[in-house]
Amino acid sequence: MHVTKMKGTLDFFDDSALKYQFLEDKANMVCHRFGFNKMITPIFEATELFTRGVGEGSDIVNKEMYTFLDKGERSITLRPEGTAGIVRSFIENKLYANDRVPKKLWYLENMFRYERPQSGRYREFLQFGCEAFGSDDPMLDAELISIPVLLFEMLGLKKVKVRINSLGDVDTRENYKKALMEYFAPHIKDLCEDCQARFSKNPLRILDCKVDKDNPILKNAPKILDYLNTESQAHFDAVLKYLEALDIDYEVDSRVIRGLDYYTHAVFEIEAEIEGFGSQNVICAGGRYDNLVGDLEGPDTKAVGFAIGLERLMLALEKENIAIPDNNYLDVYLIYLGEEAKEKAFAINHMLRIMGFKSDIDYNNRTIKANFKQAERLNASFAIIIGEDELKNNYLTVRNMQTKEEEQVKNKDLTSYLDAKLSQEEDSCSCDDCNHDEEHCKHDECHCNKCE
Ligand code: HAM
Repeated sequence: MHVTKMKGTLDFFDDSALKYQFLEDKANMVCHRFGFNKMITPIFEATELFTRGVGEGSDIVNKEMYTFLDKGERSITLRPEGTAGIVRSFIENKLYANDRVPKKLWYLENMFRYERPQSGRYREFLQFGCEAFGSDDPMLDAELISIPVLLFEMLGLKKVKVRINSLGDVDTRENYKKALMEYFAPHIKDLCEDCQARFSKNPLRILDCKVDKDNPILKNAPKILDYLNTESQAHFDAVLKYLEALDIDYEVDSRVIRGLDYYTHAVFEIEAEIEGFGSQNVICAGGRYDNLVGDLEGPDTKAVGFAIGLERLMLALEKENIAIPDNNYLDVYLIYLGEEAKEKAFAINHMLRIMGFKSDIDYNNRTIKANFKQAERLNASFAIIIGEDELKNNYLTVRNMQTKEEEQVKNKDLTSYLDAKLSQEEDSCSCDDCNHDEEHCKHDECHCNKCE
């Protein structure tokens, strides 16, 4: 019997692996511009980190964690999200003592949640996230929202919507919890079993219930925005003001309450509003978490962050028909006739790679005709043919795979010949987006091979 992949997991190869690499490169580029440094933390942590960090009232901790005892009888958990591990490391490595405040960190890593798999929801998934520590300035909240917004814009995604809410500070939430408990108390029997448990643990979670989401009892519940105290209101107003300064469209939506317990003040979700996308349409989510570092016994440090679900982002690109640059091409494909030519072709292939060309060779001793087909299949710009005559007279036959024209090039002139020919090709961008019109081509937005 074949062993198959586990339910809710994905393999990435060919196009999907290319897409993954492309998105990681873009994330890297954007993070570089915003001054975020890459961070890598362990794939598993002590279970306690998540029960204390993400919160015992959350579905993630209650139902979705991959938790087990290791051989030393320690309870460990495969990380269900990135923030808690980053905060743990921030404290443990005393990153708060760094002179670069705010400390800006990013990650792109796999996460694990035991959820019911469906399109856009997996048990192992990838998150690209950013976390900024050391400032409660609402400008930083707006900046953290502007990162995914810019990334989506650069990728050409058009149908996305930012929904934002405030969960206020601790006082606000205590008052709001009381109001919710008073409101839900007479209705509690009409809510699902999970909500009945949530009522005493954390009534805010009831608002996030998937089962009762269309229940009028939930819809008519008090709104947190009516309970913000003066400070929380001022913080939220300022975040909105800074979003407006960046021309970022948003919708204030009191239903955004988030599924993790660590949030304070502004929280947000970015949805793909694409027809047929399915119910798992939140491609990015985040917010401020001013108490988490302190709750995990670090020094009082305010923080804000977000994470993008990479599989959902890939799905959104697909649904909006956004192609990513195809790097399945070759500059050169080497063809040889006979053993002596094969050795020489092998050496030239290696030399071309050293010189920076994307080059490959026939590994299957094909006929010339089959090799030309192969060069086409591999999308090669040039084929180099080495036969008896080429060996004897120290030249190479270079075939332009587009025009089918062949030229004899001296061995020593090969790289300068290829450089010149390939840069001619590069100069003439023929993509529909820009026609390589320098004035009009916004290279960041153009997805043609030459601009990427
Ligand atoms: P989250 O909302 O749980 O937040 O996850 C963030 C994003 O990860 C979601 O919006 C979604 O795109 C993706 N995601 C979540 N679960 C799955 C799944 N089962 N399959 C596929 N994609 C999924 C967090 O994790 C917070 N740590 C975000 C954050 C960072 N807040 C502050 N800093």
